[in-house]
Amino acid sequence: MGMSQTREIGAEKETYTVRPMVESDLTGVARILVSSGICEDEDDLSRRVGLLLLEGNRLCFVAVADPGGPVLGVLLAIFNGFHVFLSHLAVHAEHRGLGVAQRLHEELLVHAVRLGAKGVIADSRLTTTGFFYRLGYRVPGVVFLVNRLEGTDGMSRTAHLP
Ligand SMILES: CC(C)(COP(=O)(O)OP(=O)(O)OC[C@H]1O[C@@H](n2cnc3c(N)ncnc32)[C@H](O)[C@@H]1OP(=O)(O)O)[C@@H](O)C(=O)NCCC(=O)NCCS
Repeated sequence: MGMSQTREIGAEKETYTVRPMVESDLTGVARILVSSGICEDEDDLSRRVGLLLLEGNRLCFVAVADPGGPVLGVLLAIFNGFHVFLSHLAVHAEHRGLGVAQRLHEELLVHAVRLGAKGVIADSRLTTTGFFYRLGYRVPGVVFLVNRLEGTDGMSRTAHLP
């Protein structure tokens, strides 16, 4: 299961644990992802991540304050048999710069290696490419394209194709 990390702030000591996400984490997870500006709707987010957990996803992790405290950080990823896709990573604003995201990422790498993944693809923002670069990510010689489906029924996006 999870491993505790200790960080020190002045004379104080705080610990947190990184572990696989469970259903009871969903409210805290949604709160952090929305407050970080990555997502907009907490209810929609809880539903989507809840489905991931129901499907047996083992690549969603949280960092929680000890003992049994609130969620401090979140990482969501999936595996498609080739690569692991890291789609969401966020740490509560008051707990940034302390290595929490790096620790969540380390946990992902351990699982990705166990799964035999060829690599990890990260969905970064321009403001966080430095962070991912620091963790070893590099821009590949390919461009990823996105066909946004929100507000469509899917069919209308391809209706013009032969
Ligand atoms: C990006 C984010 C997850 C980093 O979390 P964090 O816990 O503060 O990061 P860490 O403390 O583990 O940082 C690890 C290293 O990366 C560096 N780093 C952190 N954020 C960085 C950034 N935006 N740009 C460049 N380097 C960064 C740290 O200085 C640290 O380097 P060091 O080990 O040499 O000191 C956090 O700032 C966040 O939640 N941002 C909002 C959400 C977001 O944009 N997520 C990414 C896209 S999905």
